[in-house]
Amino acid sequence: MRILLTGAAGFIGTHIGDIARERGHEVVPLDMFLDKAHGPGPRPPGFAELDLRTDRLDDVLRGIDVVCHQAAMVGNGVDAQDLPDYAEHNDAGTARLLAAMARAGVRDLVLASSMVVYGDGRYTCPDDGDVPPAVRREEDLAAGRYDPRCPVCGGDITWRRIDESTPFLPRTSYAASKVAQEHYASAWCTLEDARTIALRYHNVYGPGMPADTPYAGVAAIFRSSIARGEAPRVFEDGGQVRDFVHARDVARANVLAIEQVGAHPAGLTPYNVASGTTFTIGQMASTLAAAAGAPEPVLTGDYRRFDVRHVVASPDAARSGLSFVAEIPPEEGLKELASAPLRTR
Ligand code: UD1
Repeated sequence: MRILLTGAAGFIGTHIGDIARERGHEVVPLDMFLDKAHGPGPRPPGFAELDLRTDRLDDVLRGIDVVCHQAAMVGNGVDAQDLPDYAEHNDAGTARLLAAMARAGVRDLVLASSMVVYGDGRYTCPDDGDVPPAVRREEDLAAGRYDPRCPVCGGDITWRRIDESTPFLPRTSYAASKVAQEHYASAWCTLEDARTIALRYHNVYGPGMPADTPYAGVAAIFRSSIARGEAPRVFEDGGQVRDFVHARDVARANVLAIEQVGAHPAGLTPYNVASGTTFTIGQMASTLAAAAGAPEPVLTGDYRRFDVRHVVASPDAARSGLSFVAEIPPEEGLKELASAPLRTR
């Protein structure tokens, strides 16, 4: 297949390009080399250096079978001043790409989405059943009560694994833009009788992760601390539950989606992309530090208002719909990450 891969120079895009080529596909790599992510300096050869917000995309789409859309401004967003950038890169960039795909007659899309669309996920209350958690209160967080409460009775609740039918509850500018991308792709499917597979990634880690920036996720932040010889700094009480999925597994899920999107029904089909193994942030920090021979993690008790306490989704639909099962156990992958190079540009 001839694939247009946007964000091809990024952390996940690089792995997708490698695996797609290994499986015999022809990849047309596109990247705008955003300074915030790649820094200034010479660009590697062979890329279509285009900005989805402004550049003409018609030529690069000619003869393409499937678009794999990874290009995005990532991270949680630092403050409200980031809102326009997320909207312009992620929302408007995707809308322009979809319009150009319609002109070029390309009807198959694989979209990088995220589990952040679910926000805080779903919990079970012994009295009120299946509930979204209440937004955590400042006074609870300051007193060291990090687990959210039931929105109905205010009592203790227990997190549960969620599936793709869980309602959207975006909490950050980035999450809002991922929800918007799914909505635009869905509308495009209706207008064009087209197909989209939206892959909702869990916490992706692996070789080539970007180094520590204000927009980096926790694995990159801890890996960067270790590289400086410092202890990872764990927020809250370290009990936050996540699913860490290796970038090569995420790339394989993308290639499976690229190969199978044409056999999917018209419309948008979402799949969670997860390892299926849960880890707390504290466990993850200890595993990385031990593997690197770095100082023991420090529990800081700091918290960020926008952080989600626990979010874990079921990987079952990706197994039945795409035959995707993650192959790299997080224990193994995190040990590799402890010494793997980070991307510097
Ligand atoms: C992360 C990504 C998000 C992505 C999602 C799924 C970022 C910033 N977040 O969301 O873009 O869509 O995975 O792939 O890239 N923490 C610490 N110490 C630190 C930083 C964070 O203990 O120095 C804790 C936080 O309190 C939080 C957890 O680590 O509980 C995860 O944080 P983070 O990786 O920033 O965000 P996610 O919500 O998991």
